[in-house]
Amino acid sequence: MAAGSKRILVIHGPNLNLLGNREVQVYGSMGLEKINSLLLQEAGKFGVELDCIQSNDTGELLERICLARGKYRGIIINPGALTHYGLALGDALAGLETPVVEVHLSNVYNREGFRSRSVSVPFVFGQISGFGYRGYLLALWALCEINAREGNI
Ligand code: DQA
Repeated sequence: MAAGSKRILVIHGPNLNLLGNREVQVYGSMGLEKINSLLLQEAGKFGVELDCIQSNDTGELLERICLARGKYRGIIINPGALTHYGLALGDALAGLETPVVEVHLSNVYNREGFRSRSVSVPFVFGQISGFGYRGYLLALWALCEINAREGNI
């Protein structure tokens, strides 16, 4: 990791660009830009910088995770539906040295059965599900706290 680098990567997977318009009763009315701006504001309080990306393209997401190696103090990822079947995503997350938090806006455990299975969760530090946009803020707080304890931030 580059000396002085205090960056966290935020990855929003497929269809999360539609937040605010998509199934508002499930995912809430807040759009992605607003979520990212709340995160940036919160990160500032911890003296941390964020890179926020969203893609509907699995290949691009995998590429970003591969390129993240050694560059970030943590990763926050909402893999969207890839959570449930994206085996390559789990493989990409496996072996990353930096802590990864998987976030879901909805509670994936009280919805359709297929959403209860995450192929990425075995490879992440922890998962936050069901708190809406707040899940991202909780994940950021957790990553900053972990890093602070380890003397990285
Ligand atoms: C989601 C839950 C997934 O099951 C779904 O496919 C999504 C969003 C969530 O944030 O609650 O796209 O990851």
